Amino acid sequence: MAEFVQVAAESAAVDLLVVPVDETLKSVVLETIGARANVDVLASAAQEHFKGKAGSSLLFRGLTGVEARCVLLVGTGEDAFRRAGVVAARNAKSVRAAKVAIAATGLSPQAVAEIVQGMTLGAYEFKRHISSAEDAFIGVQAILVLDGADAEPLVREAKVVGDAVLFARDLVNESPNNLYPASLAEAAVDMATKHGLQHVVFDEGELQEKGFNLIMAVGKGSEHAPRLIHLTYSAGKPKRRIALVGKGVTFDTGGYNIKPGASMLNMHGDMGGGAAVLGAAQALAQLAPTDIEVHFIVPSAENNIAANAYKPNDIFHGYGGKSVEIHNTDAEGRLLLADALAYAKELGVDTIVDLATLTGACVVALGELTAGLFTNDDALAEELLAASKRADEDLWRLPLTAKLDTQLDTPHADMKNIGSRWGGAITAGLFLKRWVDIEQWAHLDIAGPAFSEHEGDLSGAGGTGYGVTTLVEFVRALSA
Ligand code: BES
Ligand code: ZN
Ligand code: ZN
Repeated sequence: MAEFVQVAAESAAVDLLVVPVDETLKSVVLETIGARANVDVLASAAQEHFKGKAGSSLLFRGLTGVEARCVLLVGTGEDAFRRAGVVAARNAKSVRAAKVAIAATGLSPQAVAEIVQGMTLGAYEFKRHISSAEDAFIGVQAILVLDGADAEPLVREAKVVGDAVLFARDLVNESPNNLYPASLAEAAVDMATKHGLQHVVFDEGELQEKGFNLIMAVGKGSEHAPRLIHLTYSAGKPKRRIALVGKGVTFDTGGYNIKPGASMLNMHGDMGGGAAVLGAAQALAQLAPTDIEVHFIVPSAENNIAANAYKPNDIFHGYGGKSVEIHNTDAEGRLLLADALAYAKELGVDTIVDLATLTGACVVALGELTAGLFTNDDALAEELLAASKRADEDLWRLPLTAKLDTQLDTPHADMKNIGSRWGGAITAGLFLKRWVDIEQWAHLDIAGPAFSEHEGDLSGAGGTGYGVTTLVEFVRALSA
């Protein structure tokens, strides 16, 4: 956690002093440092083409007149404070700065909070399975905020959300031999217990008995049996009741419609929707918004191959009472969600939002950084798009083209689980729509942004924790 101190920037005895600057390059702190230093800081900035743009930075070592071992100018552009925090953390890592100070003079509390949150996001590494190296950097141990005491409450909240994003990343990054439905449920229950959320988990016996036949079908071919995780947050007199549902496929081989090797790699990330929902649960439990009820529901299964695995032309009756003929075992996420959405509806909520790494088609449509938003309600679309903007998570609305719905018809059952080759993200959404007859429902296809093979603006390679911040922003705005 950050400490708030009233120390002049030049006097902070830290490894790294972070000085945020926008494109005007005007900063009182920079002027003071410039006046005391042995180099012309502004001239060096010009020479190095540092213009304060979002994502840019300029590092100085051994400036005289400044106590800090290194000084980092980070560009904030117009308002890219989270990103500036990430850049600061990456620099802290590269100069092995255990103690970091942020010069907050002149910044709004919101900006300071976003910088600290960005530092949390940027410092993250998944090293659980790396045997410790002798000279490994211990990481940033202390963050001092200089001249920014009024930001303290917002910083505390931003840190809670940042930690929840890391919780989601840890779940996504964990290997599929270690993270499977039962262990995911265990992690969820541990978190729920720690933060005081109500929780219930259905095991395979209960799923079978209650008729979650689609979840069971997807998980049939795995040695790891399915689970349905349901956590609840409730405070005051709920004005709005919400269900957040996340796809929790702990590994997606494709099943008998097996994926080619390159497409199968990283399919342990196919529970990114579930991870986002659990991350949001952790954050909301701590932020404690009032007069709201939120259900966090994660249907979880491993989609694998075995003699008893489900197969094309199998027909199952879902929890919501309708039947599905399987045409492709790799379209498994919508099956899990169908059962979970029908269950969520039963809880009598006003609004359901689901998140799922659902289709490659959505990645083709929008690219790897942007999630697709499908919803039957324009007001809900506005709320979610606004929340995603505040969260710095790209989201773009796509249509639920009604004319494509007949693609899901089959003579043998109420529906089949795939449409034609074209518009695959839309027909996946239309499939879900058949199971959620509720006025306010939204589906976020996060197949692109949930997992990244490369370092991005806010996340390193691997699970990104996409969706946690948007969901938290969304729920908090409803409670306000
Ligand atoms: N988990 C995949 C979708 C996915 C693709 C997630 C790429 C992340 C990155 C999903 O279960 C799937 O396999 N979808 C199929 C649907 C098809 C069979 C209709 C797809 O997108 O190819
Ligand atoms: Zn699949
Ligand atoms: Zn999948």
